[in-house]
Amino acid sequence: MKLLVIGSGGREHALAWRLAQSPRVHKVYVAPGNGGTQGGSLENVALTSADDLADFVQREGIALTVVGPEAPLAAGVVDTFRARGLKIFGPTKAAAQLESSKDYAKAFMVRHNIPTARYETFTDPAAAHAYIDREGAPIVIKADGLAAGKGVVVAATLEEAHAAVDAMLGDGSLGAAGARVVIEECLLGEEASFIVMVDGRHVLALATSQDHKRLRDGDEGPNTGGMGAYSPAPVVTPEMHHRIMREVILPTVQGMQRDGIPYTGFLYAGLMIAPGDDPDRAIKVLEFNCRMGDPETQPIMMRVKSDMLDVFEHAVAGTLDQADIVWDRRTALGVVLAAHNYPGTPRTGDAISGLPEDAADCMVFHAATKRDGDAIKTSGGRVLCVTALGDSVRMARERVYETVDRVVFDGRQYRGDIGWRALKRTPAPAKPKAGS
Ligand code: AMP
Ligand code: GLY
Repeated sequence: MKLLVIGSGGREHALAWRLAQSPRVHKVYVAPGNGGTQGGSLENVALTSADDLADFVQREGIALTVVGPEAPLAAGVVDTFRARGLKIFGPTKAAAQLESSKDYAKAFMVRHNIPTARYETFTDPAAAHAYIDREGAPIVIKADGLAAGKGVVVAATLEEAHAAVDAMLGDGSLGAAGARVVIEECLLGEEASFIVMVDGRHVLALATSQDHKRLRDGDEGPNTGGMGAYSPAPVVTPEMHHRIMREVILPTVQGMQRDGIPYTGFLYAGLMIAPGDDPDRAIKVLEFNCRMGDPETQPIMMRVKSDMLDVFEHAVAGTLDQADIVWDRRTALGVVLAAHNYPGTPRTGDAISGLPEDAADCMVFHAATKRDGDAIKTSGGRVLCVTALGDSVRMARERVYETVDRVVFDGRQYRGDIGWRALKRTPAPAKPKAGS
């Protein structure tokens, strides 16, 4: 069987790699793919438009397509494929508004009683400034549209908040994406990513994970697309899992059905879990994404022990209630190696050395890489994600950083503390006593 994965990042490499392990799959095409998604049973195809992709799928007899990133979903690739009777897993353009318009998502949550930060939406800069003065800082300013992770400013001071409004509504620095802004209450707590698969009615939860959005150790520096992730996330205890399903996920899926826009695809809820140990502490939705997370997918896919093709077949057939994923009990942890100057305009073209062979317990997923003859070179901001399994967070982390030490390119930036929150929750192993 042949499959297609749309996208070119680390998320897509991890999805394609896992799908290729199904005994029924002999080829996974990745469009447009990267330097790591070429070779063996993976093959890149240089296509991006929905019509070209659908033509390719029909010509090659591809059984099923999985969409990685939000942009093709928001542009309606699922609608195009379905209109031609092709099997594809992802939300329609209308359903993808849960991610592509923050204002749509906020109004949806209020309408269906899904817990989220208090907010208002503005197009008029004067009204936005007045609201900020009334509410005070800290406060969060979000561009309404897709802004590739650059549309959110968590403003610690009034000055920063006013400047963010000026930049989005005044100068049009984010273009159409910033022509409307959502201004919302700043929430405190610990973030977790909760990702599920939805077939319109049924939900299959994936393993939990936690991302690290800031560039530098200690969660400092600018926001990025994500500098590392691990799975499972111990903040999501079984009780929390149950509450998130009941308070967030099921009302979302039912709300979309009630609104006449049944949701199909991955649904990613970015959550803020209030600080403390109270089992009833608030869980609020920071954002919805209509896709898997990157880099969360990399550790999540490392832990999948089932045949993912079976799962996707159930997902497109509307029978996810009959699907199951067996998870590796170990922890998976991924560290992103980013290019010089990321998250600003990254330098490209640096040669990468020391890439290891694939191993069942350690994979280097490619993101912004491309082949240049025999060399592999950087081609964008987040270049690689070194991901490993271990019996504990500590062991997964050791395995990852041993590999990180060997995979080298000029200007490489990475965080040395991925998994610190999970480590804080698990006591260090007792040191053997002297003489024992
Ligand atoms: P978003 O794209 O909406 O997830 O926002 C990106 C990041 O900004 C989130 O992962 C949080 O770290 C932060 N953020 C977003 N909304 C809030 C909020 N209401 N309070 C505090 N932090 C937030
Ligand atoms: N890593 C965060 C995201 O994919 O949205």
